[in-house]
Amino acid sequence: MLAAYAARLDRNDPLSALEVGERPDPEVPDGWARVHLRAAALNRHDLWSLQGVGLGEDKLPMVLGCDGAGVTDDGREVILHSVIPSPGWSGDETLDPRRTLLSELYDGTLAEQVVVPTNHLVPKPDGMSWELAGCLSTAWLTAYRMLFSNAGVSPGDTVLVQGAGGGVSTALVQLGSAAGLRMWVTSRDEARGAQAVELGADRAFASGERLPERVNAVMESVGAATWSHSVNSLNPGGTIVICGATSGDAPEKAELTKIFFKQLRVIGSTMGSLPEMRRLVDFVAREGISPVIDQTLPLGQARAAFERLAAGDSFGKIVLTTGD
Ligand SMILES: NC(=O)c1ccc[n+]([C@@H]2O[C@H](COP(=O)([O-])OP(=O)(O)OC[C@H]3O[C@@H](n4cnc5c(N)ncnc54)[C@H](OP(=O)(O)O)[C@@H]3O)[C@@H](O)[C@H]2O)c1
Repeated sequence: MLAAYAARLDRNDPLSALEVGERPDPEVPDGWARVHLRAAALNRHDLWSLQGVGLGEDKLPMVLGCDGAGVTDDGREVILHSVIPSPGWSGDETLDPRRTLLSELYDGTLAEQVVVPTNHLVPKPDGMSWELAGCLSTAWLTAYRMLFSNAGVSPGDTVLVQGAGGGVSTALVQLGSAAGLRMWVTSRDEARGAQAVELGADRAFASGERLPERVNAVMESVGAATWSHSVNSLNPGGTIVICGATSGDAPEKAELTKIFFKQLRVIGSTMGSLPEMRRLVDFVAREGISPVIDQTLPLGQARAAFERLAAGDSFGKIVLTTGD
Protein backbone atom coordinates (compact mmCIF):
# COMPACT_ATOMS: atom_id res chain seq x y z
CA MET A 1 0.00 0.00 0.00
CA LEU A 2 1.04 3.61 -0.47
CA ALA A 3 2.07 5.36 2.76
CA ALA A 4 3.93 8.39 4.13
CA TYR A 5 6.39 7.09 6.70
CA ALA A 6 9.37 7.96 8.84
CA ALA A 7 12.31 6.06 7.37
CA ARG A 8 14.83 7.85 9.59
CA LEU A 9 14.78 10.49 12.31
CA ASP A 10 16.32 13.92 11.89
CA ARG A 11 15.99 16.53 14.61
CA ASN A 12 17.17 19.40 12.38
CA ASP A 13 15.77 18.42 8.99
CA PRO A 14 12.59 16.38 9.61
CA LEU A 15 11.51 16.40 5.96
CA SER A 16 14.67 14.52 5.01
CA ALA A 17 13.42 11.63 7.18
CA LEU A 18 10.09 11.38 5.31
CA GLU A 19 9.51 8.77 2.61
CA VAL A 20 6.39 8.41 0.49
CA GLY A 21 6.20 4.95 -1.05
CA GLU A 22 5.09 1.35 -0.72
CA ARG A 23 4.69 -0.41 2.67
CA PRO A 24 3.24 -3.88 3.28
CA ASP A 25 -0.54 -4.05 3.85
CA PRO A 26 -1.17 -4.38 7.60
CA GLU A 27 -2.16 -7.68 9.19
CA VAL A 28 -5.29 -7.54 11.34
CA PRO A 29 -4.76 -8.83 14.92
CA ASP A 30 -7.68 -10.38 16.84
CA GLY A 31 -9.92 -7.64 18.22
CA TRP A 32 -8.67 -5.11 15.64
CA ALA A 33 -10.21 -3.94 12.38
CA ARG A 34 -8.80 -2.77 9.07
CA VAL A 35 -9.84 0.66 7.77
CA HIS A 36 -9.35 1.68 4.13
CA LEU A 37 -8.58 5.35 4.65
CA ARG A 38 -10.32 8.01 2.62
CA ALA A 39 -8.92 11.12 4.34
CA ALA A 40 -6.33 11.83 7.01
CA ALA A 41 -5.14 15.26 8.16
CA LEU A 42 -1.60 16.14 9.21
CA ASN A 43 -0.70 17.29 12.70
CA ARG A 44 2.37 18.90 14.22
CA HIS A 45 2.81 15.46 15.86
CA ASP A 46 3.86 14.08 12.46
CA LEU A 47 6.73 16.56 12.28
CA TRP A 48 7.72 15.81 15.89
CA SER A 49 7.82 12.09 14.98
CA LEU A 50 10.21 12.75 12.06
CA GLN A 51 12.38 14.65 14.55
CA GLY A 52 12.47 11.67 16.91
CA VAL A 53 10.17 13.20 19.54
CA GLY A 54 8.08 10.30 20.88
CA LEU A 55 9.44 7.94 18.20
CA GLY A 56 12.57 5.80 18.63
CA GLU A 57 14.94 4.39 15.98
CA ASP A 58 13.83 0.90 17.06
CA LYS A 59 10.28 1.58 15.79
CA LEU A 60 11.31 2.51 12.22
CA PRO A 61 10.02 2.48 9.58
CA MET A 62 6.80 3.95 11.01
CA VAL A 63 3.77 5.07 9.01
CA LEU A 64 2.87 8.59 10.21
CA GLY A 65 -0.56 10.06 10.97
CA CYS A 66 -2.98 10.21 13.91
CA ASP A 67 -6.12 11.60 12.19
CA GLY A 68 -8.22 9.51 9.88
CA ALA A 69 -11.53 8.35 8.49
CA GLY A 70 -12.38 5.57 6.10
CA VAL A 71 -14.27 2.37 5.37
CA THR A 72 -13.90 -0.93 7.26
CA ASP A 73 -13.55 -4.30 5.49
CA ASP A 74 -17.28 -4.86 6.18
CA GLY A 75 -18.29 -1.51 4.63
CA ARG A 76 -18.85 0.75 7.67
CA GLU A 77 -17.91 4.45 7.30
CA VAL A 78 -15.91 5.37 10.41
CA ILE A 79 -13.72 7.96 12.10
CA LEU A 80 -10.74 6.63 14.07
CA HIS A 81 -10.01 7.20 17.73
CA SER A 82 -6.24 7.30 17.78
CA VAL A 83 -5.33 6.94 21.49
CA ILE A 84 -4.44 3.27 21.95
CA PRO A 85 -4.30 1.98 25.55
CA SER A 86 -2.04 -0.86 26.67
CA PRO A 87 -3.60 -4.35 26.83
CA GLY A 88 -5.91 -4.75 29.83
CA TRP A 89 -6.34 -1.01 30.52
CA SER A 90 -9.86 0.15 31.29
CA GLY A 91 -11.21 3.68 31.76
CA ASP A 92 -9.86 6.94 30.33
CA GLU A 93 -7.12 5.76 27.97
CA THR A 94 -5.35 9.15 28.07
CA LEU A 95 -4.46 8.37 31.72
CA ASP A 96 -2.80 5.06 30.85
CA PRO A 97 0.94 5.69 31.33
CA ARG A 98 1.64 3.19 28.52
CA ARG A 99 -0.91 4.56 26.02
CA THR A 100 0.32 5.51 22.57
CA LEU A 101 -1.05 7.43 19.61
CA LEU A 102 -1.25 5.78 16.24
CA SER A 103 2.20 6.25 14.60
CA GLU A 104 4.09 5.88 17.90
CA LEU A 105 3.90 2.10 18.46
CA TYR A 106 1.40 1.05 15.79
CA ASP A 107 1.44 2.31 12.20
CA GLY A 108 -0.53 5.49 11.56
CA THR A 109 -3.09 6.82 9.13
CA LEU A 110 -1.15 8.49 6.29
CA ALA A 111 -1.64 5.35 4.24
CA GLU A 112 -4.19 3.46 2.21
CA GLN A 113 -4.94 1.16 5.19
CA VAL A 114 -4.58 1.16 8.96
CA VAL A 115 -5.60 -1.25 11.72
CA VAL A 116 -7.12 -0.13 15.04
CA PRO A 117 -8.91 -1.83 17.96
CA THR A 118 -12.51 -2.50 16.92
CA ASN A 119 -13.92 -0.29 19.68
CA HIS A 120 -11.87 2.67 18.34
CA LEU A 121 -14.22 3.18 15.40
CA VAL A 122 -16.75 5.98 15.67
CA PRO A 123 -19.52 5.96 13.03
CA LYS A 124 -19.14 8.79 10.52
CA PRO A 125 -22.37 10.82 10.57
CA ASP A 126 -24.44 10.71 7.39
CA GLY A 127 -23.59 13.63 5.14
CA MET A 128 -20.25 14.46 6.81
CA SER A 129 -17.59 14.75 4.11
CA TRP A 130 -14.51 12.53 4.21
CA GLU A 131 -12.21 15.56 4.38
CA LEU A 132 -14.04 16.90 7.41
CA ALA A 133 -14.21 13.50 9.12
CA GLY A 134 -10.49 13.00 8.52
CA CYS A 135 -9.64 16.12 10.57
CA LEU A 136 -11.24 15.25 13.89
CA SER A 137 -9.14 12.61 15.66
CA THR A 138 -6.27 14.69 17.05
CA ALA A 139 -6.27 18.51 17.04
CA TRP A 140 -10.08 18.65 17.20
CA LEU A 141 -10.35 16.06 19.95
CA THR A 142 -7.62 17.87 21.89
CA ALA A 143 -9.42 21.20 21.49
CA TYR A 144 -12.72 19.63 22.61
CA ARG A 145 -11.23 18.32 25.86
CA MET A 146 -9.33 21.55 26.51
CA LEU A 147 -12.44 23.72 26.19
CA PHE A 148 -15.27 21.56 27.45
CA SER A 149 -13.61 19.24 29.99
CA ASN A 150 -10.71 21.26 31.35
CA ALA A 151 -11.21 25.04 30.99
CA GLY A 152 -14.09 25.40 33.48
CA VAL A 153 -15.78 28.04 31.30
CA SER A 154 -19.46 28.72 30.55
CA PRO A 155 -21.20 30.38 27.59
CA GLY A 156 -20.47 34.12 27.70
CA ASP A 157 -16.99 33.70 29.22
CA THR A 158 -13.97 34.99 27.33
CA VAL A 159 -11.31 32.51 26.22
CA LEU A 160 -7.95 33.50 24.73
CA VAL A 161 -6.36 31.15 22.19
CA GLN A 162 -2.62 31.58 21.71
CA GLY A 163 -1.91 31.25 17.96
CA ALA A 164 -4.50 31.55 15.22
CA GLY A 165 -3.51 29.41 12.28
CA GLY A 166 -2.77 25.99 13.77
CA GLY A 167 -4.96 22.92 13.79
CA VAL A 168 -5.63 23.12 17.54
CA SER A 169 -6.17 26.90 17.44
CA THR A 170 -8.66 26.86 14.58
CA ALA A 171 -10.55 23.98 16.22
CA LEU A 172 -10.72 25.90 19.50
CA VAL A 173 -12.16 28.96 17.76
CA GLN A 174 -14.75 26.99 15.82
CA LEU A 175 -15.83 24.84 18.80
CA GLY A 176 -15.81 27.71 21.29
CA SER A 177 -17.78 30.15 19.15
CA ALA A 178 -20.36 27.43 18.38
CA ALA A 179 -20.74 26.90 22.16
CA GLY A 180 -21.38 30.56 22.92
CA LEU A 181 -17.94 31.44 24.29
CA ARG A 182 -16.31 34.74 23.37
CA MET A 183 -13.13 33.59 21.63
CA TRP A 184 -10.10 35.87 21.33
CA VAL A 185 -6.93 34.85 19.48
CA THR A 186 -3.37 36.05 19.15
CA SER A 187 -1.28 35.57 16.04
CA ARG A 188 2.17 36.47 14.78
CA ASP A 189 0.51 37.33 11.51
CA GLU A 190 -2.22 39.93 11.05
CA ALA A 191 -3.80 38.09 8.12
CA ARG A 192 -4.14 34.83 10.10
CA GLY A 193 -5.69 36.83 12.96
CA ALA A 194 -8.23 38.28 10.51
CA GLN A 195 -8.99 34.78 9.18
CA ALA A 196 -9.68 33.63 12.75
CA VAL A 197 -12.21 36.45 13.12
CA GLU A 198 -13.91 35.32 9.89
CA LEU A 199 -14.05 31.85 11.41
CA GLY A 200 -15.87 33.00 14.52
CA ALA A 201 -13.32 34.62 16.82
CA ASP A 202 -14.60 37.80 18.43
CA ARG A 203 -11.26 39.62 18.21
CA ALA A 204 -7.64 39.02 17.15
CA PHE A 205 -4.52 40.55 18.72
CA ALA A 206 -0.85 40.56 17.82
CA SER A 207 1.22 37.97 19.72
CA GLY A 208 2.08 39.48 23.12
CA GLU A 209 -0.26 42.48 22.77
CA ARG A 210 -1.88 43.76 25.99
CA LEU A 211 -5.57 42.80 26.02
CA PRO A 212 -8.35 45.33 26.73
CA GLU A 213 -9.53 43.18 29.63
CA ARG A 214 -8.48 39.97 31.33
CA VAL A 215 -9.98 36.63 30.30
CA ASN A 216 -11.47 33.61 32.07
CA ALA A 217 -9.25 31.01 30.41
CA VAL A 218 -6.28 30.75 28.06
CA MET A 219 -5.69 27.87 25.64
CA GLU A 220 -1.94 27.30 25.29
CA SER A 221 -0.23 25.24 22.63
CA VAL A 222 2.60 27.63 21.74
CA GLY A 223 4.56 27.35 25.01
CA ALA A 224 7.66 29.39 25.80
CA ALA A 225 6.94 32.25 23.37
CA THR A 226 3.51 33.03 24.85
CA TRP A 227 3.65 31.73 28.45
CA SER A 228 4.11 35.05 30.25
CA HIS A 229 1.39 36.65 28.13
CA SER A 230 -0.96 33.79 29.01
CA VAL A 231 -0.34 34.22 32.75
CA ASN A 232 -0.69 38.02 32.54
CA SER A 233 -3.93 37.80 30.51
CA LEU A 234 -5.94 35.86 33.10
CA ASN A 235 -8.41 37.04 35.71
CA PRO A 236 -7.66 35.92 39.27
CA GLY A 237 -8.88 32.34 39.58
CA GLY A 238 -8.57 31.82 35.80
CA THR A 239 -7.33 28.72 34.02
CA ILE A 240 -4.55 28.01 31.55
CA VAL A 241 -5.09 24.77 29.68
CA ILE A 242 -1.88 23.65 28.00
CA CYS A 243 -1.64 20.91 25.38
CA GLY A 244 1.66 21.69 23.67
CA ALA A 245 4.78 23.79 23.48
CA THR A 246 5.58 24.35 19.82
CA SER A 247 8.04 27.17 20.55
CA GLY A 248 9.78 25.24 23.38
CA ASP A 249 8.98 24.19 26.92
CA ALA A 250 11.37 26.45 28.82
CA PRO A 251 9.85 29.95 29.06
CA GLU A 252 12.14 32.79 30.13
CA LYS A 253 10.01 33.18 33.28
CA ALA A 254 7.90 30.44 34.87
CA GLU A 255 5.74 33.20 36.45
CA LEU A 256 5.34 31.18 39.65
CA THR A 257 4.59 34.21 41.82
CA LYS A 258 1.77 35.41 39.58
CA ILE A 259 0.39 31.87 39.35
CA PHE A 260 0.00 31.49 43.13
CA PHE A 261 -0.86 35.11 43.88
CA LYS A 262 -3.66 35.20 41.29
CA GLN A 263 -4.67 31.64 42.24
CA LEU A 264 -4.48 30.46 38.65
CA ARG A 265 -5.11 26.89 37.62
CA VAL A 266 -2.66 25.33 35.14
CA ILE A 267 -4.08 22.19 33.58
CA GLY A 268 -2.28 19.83 31.23
CA SER A 269 -4.46 18.34 28.52
CA THR A 270 -3.73 15.51 26.11
CA MET A 271 -6.00 14.25 23.34
CA GLY A 272 -9.33 12.93 24.71
CA SER A 273 -11.14 9.76 25.65
CA LEU A 274 -13.38 7.65 23.41
CA PRO A 275 -16.57 9.12 24.99
CA GLU A 276 -15.21 12.64 24.28
CA MET A 277 -14.45 11.60 20.70
CA ARG A 278 -18.06 10.45 20.26
CA ARG A 279 -19.38 13.71 21.77
CA LEU A 280 -17.07 15.75 19.51
CA VAL A 281 -18.33 13.97 16.38
CA ASP A 282 -21.97 14.49 17.49
CA PHE A 283 -21.38 18.16 18.31
CA VAL A 284 -19.66 18.92 15.00
CA ALA A 285 -22.41 17.15 13.04
CA ARG A 286 -25.30 18.72 14.97
CA GLU A 287 -23.88 22.26 14.84
CA GLY A 288 -22.91 21.91 11.18
CA ILE A 289 -19.31 22.91 11.95
CA SER A 290 -16.92 22.54 9.01
CA PRO A 291 -13.31 22.36 10.17
CA VAL A 292 -11.30 24.92 8.24
CA ILE A 293 -9.11 23.16 5.70
CA ASP A 294 -6.01 24.85 4.39
CA GLN A 295 -5.29 22.40 1.61
CA THR A 296 -6.33 18.94 0.38
CA LEU A 297 -3.89 16.81 -1.56
CA PRO A 298 -3.73 13.17 -2.66
CA LEU A 299 -1.64 10.93 -0.39
CA GLY A 300 0.99 10.63 -3.12
CA GLN A 301 1.73 14.35 -2.65
CA ALA A 302 2.38 13.98 1.07
CA ARG A 303 5.77 15.64 0.81
CA ALA A 304 4.24 18.90 -0.41
CA ALA A 305 1.73 18.71 2.46
CA PHE A 306 4.53 18.27 5.01
CA GLU A 307 6.47 21.16 3.47
CA ARG A 308 3.44 23.40 3.92
CA LEU A 309 2.94 22.34 7.54
CA ALA A 310 6.63 22.84 8.34
CA ALA A 311 6.64 26.32 6.76
CA GLY A 312 4.15 27.41 9.46
CA ASP A 313 1.97 29.66 7.35
CA SER A 314 -0.99 27.38 6.81
CA PHE A 315 -4.40 28.23 8.26
CA GLY A 316 -6.34 25.17 9.38
CA LYS A 317 -5.87 21.53 8.55
CA ILE A 318 -3.88 20.01 5.69
CA VAL A 319 -5.65 16.86 4.48
CA LEU A 320 -4.41 13.89 2.45
CA THR A 321 -6.96 11.82 0.57
CA THR A 322 -6.92 8.28 -0.77
CA GLY A 323 -9.37 6.25 -2.86
CA ASP A 324 -11.93 7.83 -5.14
N1 LIG B 1 -1.26 17.16 23.99
C1 LIG B 1 -1.90 16.73 22.91
O1 LIG B 1 -2.66 15.77 22.92
C2 LIG B 1 -1.75 17.52 21.64
C3 LIG B 1 -2.64 17.33 20.58
C4 LIG B 1 -2.54 18.14 19.45
C5 LIG B 1 -1.49 19.05 19.38
N2 LIG B 1 -0.62 19.16 20.40
C6 LIG B 1 0.48 20.14 20.34
O2 LIG B 1 -0.09 21.43 20.20
C7 LIG B 1 0.75 22.24 19.38
C8 LIG B 1 -0.07 22.78 18.21
O3 LIG B 1 -0.45 21.70 17.40
P1 LIG B 1 -1.05 21.95 15.97
O4 LIG B 1 -1.26 20.63 15.32
O5 LIG B 1 -2.17 22.91 16.08
O6 LIG B 1 0.20 22.66 15.29
P2 LIG B 1 0.28 23.69 14.11
O7 LIG B 1 -0.91 23.43 13.22
O8 LIG B 1 1.63 23.60 13.56
O9 LIG B 1 0.05 25.10 14.87
C9 LIG B 1 1.03 25.96 15.26
C10 LIG B 1 0.36 27.11 16.04
O10 LIG B 1 1.30 27.68 16.91
C11 LIG B 1 1.37 29.06 16.71
N3 LIG B 1 2.83 29.35 16.86
C12 LIG B 1 3.83 28.56 16.46
N4 LIG B 1 5.03 29.09 16.82
C13 LIG B 1 4.75 30.21 17.46
C14 LIG B 1 5.56 31.21 18.06
N5 LIG B 1 6.89 31.10 18.07
N6 LIG B 1 4.95 32.25 18.61
C15 LIG B 1 3.62 32.34 18.59
N7 LIG B 1 2.80 31.41 18.05
C16 LIG B 1 3.37 30.37 17.47
C17 LIG B 1 0.77 29.35 15.36
O11 LIG B 1 0.06 30.55 15.42
P3 LIG B 1 0.21 31.75 14.35
O12 LIG B 1 0.99 31.21 13.21
O13 LIG B 1 -1.17 32.14 14.01
O14 LIG B 1 0.92 32.81 15.11
C18 LIG B 1 -0.20 28.19 15.19
O15 LIG B 1 -1.49 28.53 15.71
C19 LIG B 1 1.91 21.34 18.95
O16 LIG B 1 3.02 21.57 19.80
C20 LIG B 1 1.37 19.94 19.13
O17 LIG B 1 2.37 18.98 19.35
C21 LIG B 1 -0.73 18.42 21.53
